[in-house]
Amino acid sequence: MRIDILTLFPEMFEGPFANSIIKRAVDRNLVSIYVNNFRNYTHDRHKIVDDCPYGGGAGMVLKPEPIFEAVEDLAGKPYVKNPKKPVILLSPQGRIFDQKIARQLSSCESLILICGHYEGFDERICQHLATDEISIGDYVLSGGEPAAIVMVDAIVRLIPGAIDELSAADDSFSRGLLEYPQYTRPAEYRNLSVPDILLSGNHSEIEKWRRAQALKRTLERRPDLLQTAMLTKEEEKMLSKLLAEESE
Ligand code: ADE
Repeated sequence: MRIDILTLFPEMFEGPFANSIIKRAVDRNLVSIYVNNFRNYTHDRHKIVDDCPYGGGAGMVLKPEPIFEAVEDLAGKPYVKNPKKPVILLSPQGRIFDQKIARQLSSCESLILICGHYEGFDERICQHLATDEISIGDYVLSGGEPAAIVMVDAIVRLIPGAIDELSAADDSFSRGLLEYPQYTRPAEYRNLSVPDILLSGNHSEIEKWRRAQALKRTLERRPDLLQTAMLTKEEEKMLSKLLAEESE
């Protein structure tokens, strides 16, 4: 997979992409990541990338020319939108990023992420260049860069070979539930002990306990996830029991 990032602040990506799972995936040739400064696609002496909004108002708007030219340079000219090669604008106006979108994007041939700044993008970029507009949450960042880093991290770790497959399948959200609580040694620390069941060696009972805990936690913290979670028959039963206990 090839990921291109268009940004005015390429230095912001140096640390995050040079460490941990992303670095390993790059080293294993599972993904190549290119950080491109779209200021390099300006043609004027001052390398201007933004301008005042038509109609007046505060802030500056990113001009179409450098971003169109950068995408054409990367995706080919004439540029044609291709769902297998998404061109994504990062902005608070986008649809909210989640694990499902991360999974879909992890199987794409290539990806172009465009980081905005200031008051936003000229609408022609949104309409005629981008195939999608994504937000990482309902808050306003000072630019799309942290959002691009978050997305690249979530996407790259899902590329087969990037991490141990079992842990990916077991991940929080892989089935739409939060994770069960985890413990490690020592079995007792400052009078705080690990639940007995985890020390029992009874694997089927441990599995059952973990599933119940994952459900309980999801119900307490993120009940909205239960609407779309993929539950087994047994989990449906556990959930009914938890709901009955809740209403007692
Ligand atoms: N740019 C500014 N805020 C953002 C957000 N919440 N998500 C993605 N890009 C952004």
